[in-house]
This record gives sequence, structure tokens and C-alpha cells, in this order.
Amino acid sequence: MVMNKEGLNPSSPFEQKRKNMVDDLCFITKDGSTIKPPKKSPLVLRMVVLLFAMVCGVYMCSICMRQINARSNGRVLSVKVVERPCEVPVIQPSEKYYVHFPKPKTFARAECACNPVQYFVILSTQRSGSGWFETMLNSHINISSNGEIFSNKVRRSNASSIVETLDKIYNLDWLTSASKNECTAAVGLKWMLNQGLLQHHVEIVEYFKSKGVSAIFLFRRNLLRRMISILANSYDQNAKPLNGTHKSHVHSPQEAEILARYKPEINTTLLIPNLRQVEEMVTRSLEYFKSTRHIILYYEDIIKNRTKLLDVQDFLRVPRMDLNSRQVKIHKGSLSSQVQNWDEVEKTLNGTQYESFLYEDYKMS
Ligand SMILES: *[C@@H]1O[C@H](CO)[C@@H](O)[C@H](O)[C@H]1NC(C)=O
Ligand SMILES: *[C@@H]1O[C@H](CO)[C@@H](O)[C@H](O)[C@H]1NC(C)=O
Ligand SMILES: *[C@@H]1O[C@H](CO)[C@@H](O)[C@H](O)[C@H]1NC(C)=O
Ligand SMILES: *[C@@H]1O[C@H](CO)[C@@H](O)[C@H](O)[C@H]1NC(C)=O
Ligand SMILES: *[C@@H]1O[C@H](CO)[C@@H](O)[C@H](O)[C@H]1NC(C)=O
Ligand SMILES: *[C@@H]1O[C@H](CO)[C@@H](O)[C@H](O)[C@H]1NC(C)=O
Repeated sequence: MVMNKEGLNPSSPFEQKRKNMVDDLCFITKDGSTIKPPKKSPLVLRMVVLLFAMVCGVYMCSICMRQINARSNGRVLSVKVVERPCEVPVIQPSEKYYVHFPKPKTFARAECACNPVQYFVILSTQRSGSGWFETMLNSHINISSNGEIFSNKVRRSNASSIVETLDKIYNLDWLTSASKNECTAAVGLKWMLNQGLLQHHVEIVEYFKSKGVSAIFLFRRNLLRRMISILANSYDQNAKPLNGTHKSHVHSPQEAEILARYKPEINTTLLIPNLRQVEEMVTRSLEYFKSTRHIILYYEDIIKNRTKLLDVQDFLRVPRMDLNSRQVKIHKGSLSSQVQNWDEVEKTLNGTQYESFLYEDYKMS
């Protein structure tokens, strides 16, 4: 076999090919320093220019087509703008989850259709000032709190019935005297811990999470005062001293005075277990709903410091307003004058963690 100096067989097909390639690709050098003048370069150059022109033409054409398409799509889009969902206002991305644009079935939101709505729930216990608190909220032009919806046992009989009820409330289709309709910016309800809330907490937490519902916890610090209020209220439920009608909340000092005349007797055997039970229920609710966006309020703090009501309005993202309630407090003054067996109660709580309940007092501002 004859080999050239490069050690390749010159007649092999591979070597032949290599030679042709070297000829065609004019810039490959033989010894790595001098460029061999191309023999067929004018033709190759012409081909390259032609190819380039073709590619350019196709490219420009495609751009034109795309622009024409975009323009016609634009026309379709501008028609769709009318039905487009409302613009979410400029807020933190994490907040968008709590902003809603409900489309009620029972009425049109008209000029307020694109006003964002917050969903809330007041989680509380009986006789903790939640009735008073709710009337305060409802005095705001944009807040609609629909009351104790789940005092009705049928509505809270199972999770699906609860969800159905909540859906209706949050879609603004629950019509009560508290409904503000089209310009509602925050819609909610009052829900007592013992009204199926703790029982169905798994499903309810899930619902709050998926719908972006915010919770307002409202509790009373002095659970002894709360107990007295419960006893008085249940007495009133039976005796009805106000002309035969039961009133949980009153609107005149005269009515309050009549209701406050009744002094309950507290069963001291059950006193501490009862206080502990309420405390546990409150702790449990805070634990279950800790992942829900929430604010914790105490009745006593709001009474002492009305700035708390601004905190609530900020929490619900409604414009700040002066809130007011026509409700009058039933029980005023020191506790000792409100309970029949005060000495016994004092002895029972003396030296316990609940001792402060005996003496803590506050004034209506
Ligand atoms: C839930 O309760 C409602 C009202 O009591 C009832 O009509 C419905 O059948 C119940 N659903 C389930 C799944 O138990
Ligand atoms: C509050 O209600 C008023 C009167 O209905 C309305 O003009 C205003 O846009 C509402 N504000 C919000 C934040 O929805
Ligand atoms: C009870 O009714 C009478 C007459 O209707 C009225 O004058 C009085 O103020 C009422 N009392 C209360 C506590 O509502
Ligand atoms: C207090 O409650 C206990 C348990 O229910 C009961 O046995 C006791 O008689 C009650 N005491 C009074 C003074 O009512
Ligand atoms: C009243 O409440 C506000 C807001 O919660 C707080 O910043 C302020 O310190 C409170 N004022 C008093 C006197 O406690
Ligand atoms: C509370 O207990 C202390 C000591 O145990 C006693 O000195 C005090 O008088 C008690 N107070 C009342 C109001 O019973």
C-alpha cells in the first residue's frame, strides 16, 4: 500500500473527500499560516448572499404577519375588556388572596362591582360584647356583618351545610338587615365557638384558607363578669322583666337598670371548673385557627381604648370611620354589688389564678 507523507492512502475515498473539502472551504490553510486564494469563491459568495437575502425576506414577512395577527387579536381583546375580572388594587402579593370581587345572584353590585371585598368572621363566646361590637361594625357604611347565622342548628348540622351557608354569605346573597349590598367592602358574620365551629374546625379552617377569610377573635378578659352576664341573660330569658319580651341587649339606661336589678347567685362548686372550661375553649380555638389571618381583641380593651376600632377597620381594609352603637351596658360598677353570694365567690377565687377577676374594673368611655 502506497502512503503519502501524511500517512494516508491518497487514493482512498476518505482522502479524496478530504481534498475536495479543502478546496471548497477556501479558508482552510495547508500549513496553518497562508490563506489559499479561493478558486470557486465568487459562486459560493453569490450563493451565500442569495441565501441570506431569502432568509431575510422570510423573516421580515413572518414579522409582518405576526404584527397583523397581533393587531386583529388586539381588537378581540379590547372587546373582552368589558368582561375582564376587576383589577386587583396595588397591594402586597400575599394580600391578594384576601381580596374578592363577588358576583351576587340576587342583585348587581353596580358602580361598586370593582370595589374589592374582604371576607371576615367574628369568632367569639356568648356575652363577650360581640353583639355590641357587631353593631359598631355595622355602623360603618361599607361593613356588613350578618349576625349569629349559626345559632340555627340545622345550618350547622354538618360541614356541607356550613359551607353552603358561608358561600351564600360571602357571595353577598345572604340578605339581612345588616346587608349593605352593592358597596359592601367587608362581609361577614358572628360565630360562637360552641356553634359547630370547634366541632367542624378541620373543614372550616380549610374553607377559610381556600376562600381567604380573615378572623376577628373577640373575647372577654374577665370571665367572671361574663358568667354573671350569662346568668342574668338566662334569667331574663325566663322571667322577661321588660314587659314580657326577652332582650339580650338593651338600648336605654332604663331598660339596663331593670335588667341589672337581678342579682344572680353563683354556684361556687362549679365556678372554677366553669372558668377553666371557657379558658380551654378559647385556647383551643386559637390553636385550631392560628393559620387563618386573624386579629385578637378583648372587649375590655375596646371599651378602654377606642383606637382598637381603627385597628379593626385597618384589618378589614375599609376606610376609617367613627363607629357607634346605640346599645347600653347592662351591668356597671363593681361586681360585689351584682352577685348575691359575693362573700362565697370571693372566698372561692381568693388565691387562685382567677383572683384578679374579682377586682378588675373598667369604665365606659
Ligand atoms: C347536612 O345537613 C342538611 C341540613 O340538615 C341536610 O339536608 C343534608 O342532607 C346533610 N348532608 C349530609 C351530607 O349529611
Ligand atoms: C363605601 O360605600 C360608599 C357608599 O355606598 C361607596 O361610595 C364607596 O365606594 C364604598 N367604599 C368602598 C371602599 O367600597
Ligand atoms: C312596658 O310597657 C308600658 C306600656 O306599653 C310602657 O309604658 C313601659 O315603658 C314599658 N316598659 C319597659 C321596661 O319597656
Ligand atoms: C352546684 O352544682 C352542683 C353540681 O351541679 C350541684 O350538685 C349543687 O347542688 C349546686 N349547688 C347549688 C348551691 O346550687
Ligand atoms: C390604644 O390602642 C392602640 C392601638 O391598638 C395602641 O397603639 C395604644 O397604645 C393604646 N393606647 C392606650 C392608652 O392603651
Ligand atoms: C384571701 O386569702 C388571704 C390568705 O389566704 C387572706 O388573708 C385574705 O383575707 C383573703 N381575702 C379575702 C377577700 O377573702
